Amino acid sequence: MSGKKAVMETTTSFSYYRAVIISETVRSEISFSESPDYEILITADITAQLRAIRTQQADKILFLLFVIPLAESAGLQSAIGKTAGSNPKKDKEYVSFLLFGKAGEIAEKVPDGLHVSGFRESEVTAGEFAFLAGKVFETLQGDFLKIQESEEHTIKLMDAWNDQESLIEIGKALSLEKDPDKLLRTILYFSKKITGADAGSIFIVEKHEGIKRLRFKYSHTFSKDLSYEEFTMPLDNNSIAGYVAVTGQVLNIPDVYTLDQNSPIAFNPSFDTSHGYRTKSMLVLPMRNHIDEIIGVIQLINSKESAEFYTGNEAFEVRLSTQDDFKFRIKPFHKRYENLMEAVAGQAAIAMENNRMLLQIEHQFEEFVKASVTAIESRDPATSGHSFRVAGMCVRTALLINDSSASVFNTTNFSEIQLKELEFAALLHDFGKVYIDPAIFIKAKKLYPRDFEYLMMRLNFLYRSIELTYLEKYSAYNDLPNEMRDKLQKLMLVMEKVAHLNEPFVRTDDVDDEINSMLSFKDELYCTDLQDHLIPLLEDSEVKNLKIKRGSLNDEERKVIESHVVHTYTFVSKIPWPEEYINIPEIAMRHHEKLDGTGYPDRLKGKENIPLQSRIMAIADIFDALNAADRPYKKAVPKDKIFDILREEAASGKLDGDLVELFIAGKAWDLGADEGTDRILHHFINPLVLRTRIDTSEADTAAPV
Ligand SMILES: [Fe+2]
Ligand SMILES: [Fe+2]
Repeated sequence: MSGKKAVMETTTSFSYYRAVIISETVRSEISFSESPDYEILITADITAQLRAIRTQQADKILFLLFVIPLAESAGLQSAIGKTAGSNPKKDKEYVSFLLFGKAGEIAEKVPDGLHVSGFRESEVTAGEFAFLAGKVFETLQGDFLKIQESEEHTIKLMDAWNDQESLIEIGKALSLEKDPDKLLRTILYFSKKITGADAGSIFIVEKHEGIKRLRFKYSHTFSKDLSYEEFTMPLDNNSIAGYVAVTGQVLNIPDVYTLDQNSPIAFNPSFDTSHGYRTKSMLVLPMRNHIDEIIGVIQLINSKESAEFYTGNEAFEVRLSTQDDFKFRIKPFHKRYENLMEAVAGQAAIAMENNRMLLQIEHQFEEFVKASVTAIESRDPATSGHSFRVAGMCVRTALLINDSSASVFNTTNFSEIQLKELEFAALLHDFGKVYIDPAIFIKAKKLYPRDFEYLMMRLNFLYRSIELTYLEKYSAYNDLPNEMRDKLQKLMLVMEKVAHLNEPFVRTDDVDDEINSMLSFKDELYCTDLQDHLIPLLEDSEVKNLKIKRGSLNDEERKVIESHVVHTYTFVSKIPWPEEYINIPEIAMRHHEKLDGTGYPDRLKGKENIPLQSRIMAIADIFDALNAADRPYKKAVPKDKIFDILREEAASGKLDGDLVELFIAGKAWDLGADEGTDRILHHFINPLVLRTRIDTSEADTAAPV
């Protein structure tokens, strides 16, 4: 919106010039006396006379009465019309005509639109002249006042419209901005734009250990490229900004160098002196939050808005460089900006408060998530840090995608929010493990330690029981039959086989045969307890576990562990995520899906069905599991070996090959100093990944000892 503005011209007083301009042609027809109310000019060239008046009386409202023959009116009307159309001062000329001609010519010869106040065929007496001139000037002045009134009204409406638009515009801009620094810049940008200010600064009230100070936070000057540094100063009346922050008063100073001696504020000219600037007009406002507390100050300097021309962009368009610029282009801030800018400052304060609270909530939530993850991972000290490292690698991979020029990633770009979404999903990806018995995670052999001990004790008991049975029958040792020796030998063999088969990495293809050979002894190797209950050689559950052919988990245990992703989904879905984070549960749940459909929980197949974020997470998850040297019996797999494994997984259609290459080449796995933080004291094994790997190629390096 542009147009004339009421800046500094809302006064109803004005200076004017009145004249009667008489054409030489009709001079002899007119008698007149001089009057103090108007000038009488007689001329042979009416148009030239008009030009002269316009030049000599440029700053005045013109009221002109032309006394001319009808024949000259057409040429004069075009001169008035022509200049009036392009003259910004057209509203300053009010013109009427007294025409001389023959009766009957009026209708056909008077040009359209001419303001004719009289038409004469014969001479005009001095009395008539005075009466006519007085009446004409009264009418013209009346017209002017009417137009002036309506124009002022229009200007006021336009100002109100501009102000409202500015408030809406700034409100929208502030509500969209989440970055605190950018928010301050936006506030200052709009403040300067609205008021046409050349420079501005924002001060923020800070509280440290109960003492409030004012921080000079951000500053910008259109006409000077000045660097600035943040600093703090006491919150007191010794500075202009401090005064406003303490008193809450709005200061509108036309010229800071002409402040009254008794003024409670004083201007410090050191900035002007050191930077060759000239601070003149100043508008300083407090920023009040929703509870009327002053949280900052906006200081605007040197309004460049002109009274006559208004574009709304004076702040950027007008540059102050010469001494004359500083002398003539700077205007006082218009009074109405005091109220408007107070409203803007209020909006700004609330936006800043909202922003601060939003960041605080986000920060608290993030810390809560991290604390929860830390708590869960601490159930097994070896798992500490896994989720943090996976999150770090995921975010690094996403940033690599953003920077990548490869065509496969051309259309993908992670926004700030999407990066945060990925980070949260990665932090929470194994959260479902909270529902699972930690013993399963640390089950290193096919039998739990307590079950293995129980079995060996039972076999020892059986051994002694057999010995005792035979010793009772045969008093002399030498009489003991071979049958007993045979049984005891078989029992020793069973104990050896059990210890051997208990190891998770034994992959003899004849596990079933070995177990069957042990079970073939069950009818001769057993005993009963004191209650006559049968104590078998091997119990069914022991047989089931020893028959495990891959790793240390039986099928049920494997399913329980795999269920962690479903528990993750259930738990993470319960968090009331904002709309932009609504996909976090799904992303977190899919980190064990494989592109070839062999993953879990849903055996999803193909890139189109597994979210990109989950495909990234799958790679980071495997890398961290293999890279961890976190258990007494497991060494870290060398990096090159891990890369080979990841590439094999991609080649076999399980992992996303493009992502694997980006992950390796871009060193997304290299978390640098993050890996050495106090929090990440231990590493974490993902048992499933570990088992998958050791069953194929990592048996030696990862074998328990
Ligand atoms: Fe997992
Ligand atoms: Fe994991």
